[in-house]
Amino acid sequence: MTATLIDGTAIAADVRQSIAARVAELSAATGRKPGLATVLVGEDPASQAYVRMKGKNCLEVGMESFSYKLPADSTQEEVEGLVRDLNANPAVNGILVQLPLPKHLDEEAILGAISLEKDVDGFHPVNIGRLVMKGRKPLFIPCTPKGCMVLLERSGVKLEGANAVVLGRSNIVGMPVAALLLHANATVTTCHSRSKDLRAICSEADVLVAAVGRAGMVRGDWIKPGAVVIDVGVNRVDDASRKSGYRLVGDVNFDEAVEVAGMITPVPGGVGPMTIAMLLQNTLDAFERTV
Ligand code: GUN
Repeated sequence: MTATLIDGTAIAADVRQSIAARVAELSAATGRKPGLATVLVGEDPASQAYVRMKGKNCLEVGMESFSYKLPADSTQEEVEGLVRDLNANPAVNGILVQLPLPKHLDEEAILGAISLEKDVDGFHPVNIGRLVMKGRKPLFIPCTPKGCMVLLERSGVKLEGANAVVLGRSNIVGMPVAALLLHANATVTTCHSRSKDLRAICSEADVLVAAVGRAGMVRGDWIKPGAVVIDVGVNRVDDASRKSGYRLVGDVNFDEAVEVAGMITPVPGGVGPMTIAMLLQNTLDAFERTV
């Protein structure tokens, strides 16, 4: 069996096109544009690349992008001060503080300083609290988990009653995606590095979301035949044949998994492009609430 590929690049392009059309409409009506501010503290190369992509994508759909770069040794007060300025700036509809932050900074306090209405990452403690509670509505849903759900939805995957396994328990992906799958009435198991027999747990999954950040960890024989596999991992592995010296692979051994799964997201070109599309969607939603 060869799995059907879930084409995140195409789905994200489609989402961006709808966003661009709505931005044009709203801009014509209001004379204003949605604006996203990104805050990068330090010089982590992967974070720099992500933030650059976010800014570029904003401009491409007709939004305003404000990019703030702070030195790695910035104080808590400096970062929170910038967040407060952005909260007060009417041209800024969304604020994204790129994670991870340098170790000396208090991430929870910084994310908590972001105005709820501008929390387009959905990481404010109140938004996350609402996300995990039944019957509560966060103002924003975190971008990568939301992107996973849109991929499942657009691929016609039935989640009601399905066994969903989430491999990984990060604040950014594992925890929120498990909450979203639960809200979609899946039976959800979260497993992680301390779980016993990960292979046995994963092989029960009708829907498997891998988000651990370990290249090729999920092998073909971890996957139930016909399962839907969402690979969130983005791992650099050495590859002398590439100009960059590396290539990107997921948490799933793709060549093995594609022979067993029913549907699978490739890396790159699966979940990755969806994250930014969802960020743009959240920024547009934030703007819409102000018009
Ligand atoms: N670092 C990795 N993923 C994300 C994300 O979705 N948002 C932010 N702010 N930082 C990240």
